[in-house]
Amino acid sequence: MELVIFIGLQGSGKSTFYQKHFGEDYAYVSKDLLQNNRRPARRQLQLIEEELQANRSVVVDNTNPTLEDRAVLIQLGQQYGATVIGYYFVPEVKKSLERNQLRVGKERVPNIAIFATAKRLVRPIYAEGFAQLFSVQACDDFTFEISEWQEHDTRGSSG
Ligand SMILES: Nc1ncnc2c1ncn2[C@@H]1O[C@H](COP(=O)(O)OP(=O)(O)OP(=O)(O)O)[C@@H](O)[C@H]1O
Ligand SMILES: [Mg+2]
Repeated sequence: MELVIFIGLQGSGKSTFYQKHFGEDYAYVSKDLLQNNRRPARRQLQLIEEELQANRSVVVDNTNPTLEDRAVLIQLGQQYGATVIGYYFVPEVKKSLERNQLRVGKERVPNIAIFATAKRLVRPIYAEGFAQLFSVQACDDFTFEISEWQEHDTRGSSG
């Protein structure tokens, strides 16, 4: 059983990556689906817990930029004995802005939200409790390059 945590800017390709790389054997949880909920963060934790209780792997598709955002998820995963895996979408602000610009309706976020996340984004490290960490780079042709995340890598410190 896995708890998969995405980390990355809006428009970095997280949801697209999920659709391409994760099958039906992964439950999908995202605060984007909880926008009408009064307490989306709390509801999201409940949903994750339900899946883990039922021994199902879960993907959490949010920006998860800070240590605090991730810590509650990681703790929950560990509580249920899940293997906690992180996917870090290496930030490229310009690309995120461009991809966001191509989106329509509710999917598109204000540009300032991308800048704000970029400012808060903390690169993940194993010490947070990840069993595995990967970096993901979205290529322009809708493919994704996945590699093992080197936490001393300098990529992603600017973008
Ligand atoms: N590898 C890629 N190549 C080209 N376009 C892409 C790629 N990945 C995603 N896109 C496009 O970029 C836009 C943003 O992608 P996506 O919705 O997956 O981002 P996201 O990280 O889930 O954003 P958010 O955090 O706002 O939900 C979409 O319109 C998508 O079609
Ligand atoms: Mg998304």
